[in-house]
Amino acid sequence: METPSLLLCKGLLLTASLLTCWNSPTAALRTTKEIRFSAAEGGKVLLSVPIQAENLISFHWYKGKDEDQDFTIAHYEKDTDLLKLGNATSGREEIYKDGSMMLQDVTQEDTGIYTLETFGTHDHLEITHFYLQVYKIVTKPTIQVNNTRVGRRRSTAILTCVSPDTGIDTNWFFNYKPLNLTERVTLSPEERKLIINPVWRVDSGIYQCEASNYFSSRRSSPVLLVLAYG
Ligand SMILES: *[C@@H]1O[C@H](CO)[C@@H](O)[C@H](O)[C@H]1NC(C)=O
Ligand SMILES: *[C@@H]1O[C@H](CO)[C@@H](O)[C@H](O)[C@H]1NC(C)=O
Ligand SMILES: *[C@@H]1O[C@H](CO)[C@@H](O)[C@H](O)[C@H]1NC(C)=O
Repeated sequence: METPSLLLCKGLLLTASLLTCWNSPTAALRTTKEIRFSAAEGGKVLLSVPIQAENLISFHWYKGKDEDQDFTIAHYEKDTDLLKLGNATSGREEIYKDGSMMLQDVTQEDTGIYTLETFGTHDHLEITHFYLQVYKIVTKPTIQVNNTRVGRRRSTAILTCVSPDTGIDTNWFFNYKPLNLTERVTLSPEERKLIINPVWRVDSGIYQCEASNYFSSRRSSPVLLVLAYG
């Protein structure tokens, strides 16, 4: 036998993927959600969750995972239509009365958790944790070759894709087309080094590497590999 309040709880579970849900005659109905967001460094991101505006009484934005008053970004009361900023603001937030928050000019330091607490009618307290990941725009990589003129027969050429960035993927291009790996043309495990062993005349041409992450990619300047022997 399920009571009506339990059924309501289950219904919400299905529609809002709640992680916590309980109900008793005295306690507020508390629901918790987690949402992941990502943004590119220097860009902006809108942290928002659908809120039933007609049921909204107030909301609170916090920096971090806890509903800690010391880390208040903003507090809004619908009754008085008053929006107060807390001391955890960066000055780059824009808070909207529907409970959403726009972060502008995001930096790596903005990566982290933001918590939105909304209080609605029927004692409904809803906590949303926003996990924000700010991605770096990759820098242009360069290619280092131990020798761009390969003179000896059966010699090896090693091209290294040099990038100051971490957490990037590397792709290689030959004559502006994706490079095909063969028995002679291989990559080091982390794909930063292109190893051609032995070098053949067909390997003469233009090489580029490309560094990419989820948000951006940059290609190196072309490097010409010349096979000097006849
Ligand atoms: C905000 O102010 C409180 C009390 O004045 C302080 O304890 C807290 O560390 C401050 N928070 C930030 C993020 O500066
Ligand atoms: C490039 O480096 C590889 C490995 O260190 C070496 O075997 C090869 O001889 C070098 N090639 C030239 C042209 O120096
Ligand atoms: C790699 O192989 C594909 C399919 O055979 C070919 O179209 C492409 O031109 C090759 N890429 C290079 C750089 O040769």
